[in-house]
Amino acid sequence: MKDRQNIHGSWASRWVFIMAATGSAVGLGNIWKFPYIAGQNGGGAFVLVYLLFILAVGVPIMMAEVLVGRRGRQSPINSMREVAMEAGHAPGWSVVGWVGALAGFLIFSFYSVVAGWVLAYVAAMGNGEFLDIGSEQASKVFSRLLADPQALLIWHSVFVVLVMTVLMGGVNKGLERATKIMMPALFVLLLLLLGYSMTSGSFGEGLEFLFHFDPSELSWDAVLVALGHSFFTLSLGMGSIMAYGSYMPKNASIGGTVLTIAALDTIVALVAGMAIFPIVFANSLDPGAGPGLMFITLPVAFGHMPGGQVFGFLFFVLVALAAWTSAISLMEPGVAWMVERFGLKRGPVCIMLGMVVWLLGIAALSSFNFGSDIALFGMNIFDFLDFITANVFLPLGGLFVAVFTGWILNKKITGNELAIANPLYYLAWSVMIRYIAPIAVAAIFIFNLIEKLG
Ligand code: TRP
Repeated sequence: MKDRQNIHGSWASRWVFIMAATGSAVGLGNIWKFPYIAGQNGGGAFVLVYLLFILAVGVPIMMAEVLVGRRGRQSPINSMREVAMEAGHAPGWSVVGWVGALAGFLIFSFYSVVAGWVLAYVAAMGNGEFLDIGSEQASKVFSRLLADPQALLIWHSVFVVLVMTVLMGGVNKGLERATKIMMPALFVLLLLLLGYSMTSGSFGEGLEFLFHFDPSELSWDAVLVALGHSFFTLSLGMGSIMAYGSYMPKNASIGGTVLTIAALDTIVALVAGMAIFPIVFANSLDPGAGPGLMFITLPVAFGHMPGGQVFGFLFFVLVALAAWTSAISLMEPGVAWMVERFGLKRGPVCIMLGMVVWLLGIAALSSFNFGSDIALFGMNIFDFLDFITANVFLPLGGLFVAVFTGWILNKKITGNELAIANPLYYLAWSVMIRYIAPIAVAAIFIFNLIEKLG
């Protein structure tokens, strides 16, 4: 077997890879989206189904992405080509990498807008703007922010600059260094908030909401949401994890590493839920408030609690850090490919790509103000980008990666890369990647389309 070298560098250790991939996985998906979709879908049963999908679909597909990345040792586009050819198949599999890189740009453009709201809230919380505020006023603050394109543009621009600055530094001096500082900070902040919520919130009620099991509350729609979210939250389906896998040391075991990453991502989502719902219940607020849960409900709660200004500020700092380390991974496949293809330095590549996503982000943020009349398939630009990536690009990307590793690559390659000692575990992975994951993903893809278009 050829032992390829990655021109971009490689993680200093297996543990750094775990932190970087966890940084990618833990983001707005965990802290903003998971609590609100769990809230909208009744908690308990939804959470259980989500956990099941993480294990049965997310973990095997994440292993597949890491496997291909580490085997190819290049950007997802070039790794897909390289590994396909090594297995004696057409180089055209690189299309999966292409579509993924494109999806990364599209996700980034609305992700950056939401991250901009988070930055605006860091400032507002720090200024004490939410002290003693009612929920009506809080929702006015939120809609006023959305209606102000200039404010949105400033925060979106700040976020793009933050992300591109880290990317410019490269794998070791940028991504690795940022991760090593931000991830521990994120975990400390999260534990601090959990402690706060345990002492100041209705902790028992929050737990009961998240973990009670009542299957009658589970709709088919909720099952689809859970499956789609298990994908988004683990950063699967577009090459983020494949790119990070290409920097992974050869001697590290993929199975154990991926299980650790998935466990950390899940723990953060659950802890975020355990930090948020007790505060919601202690203030008799609505757990099913939707996307505003974090931007309207929580500031009200913080505004009424002892120490709420400080903890509210820390909370939004936490979310900003999480969004930052995730957004980096959305751009890495595109950056790595440009460097490989054109032999450019990271600096100019990041400036160019930064301008592209900055412009795309302006289109996304206009959905809430001057561009609110623009409709694509009955959705504004922001909702359309969210819809088309989560429900079309990611499921398709994941499906192709599963088919590619499960059916196209031979056992010599996958067995060698995964290096699983126990043949039973390898068999389990192989059944999941060949049958369970593709069927489940094809199902969400098809049902989502029927539901939205039908
Ligand atoms: N997983 C991140 C979150 O939960 C978002 C993210 C980063 C992502 N990279 C991705 C989602 C790739 C899908 C695909 O916020």
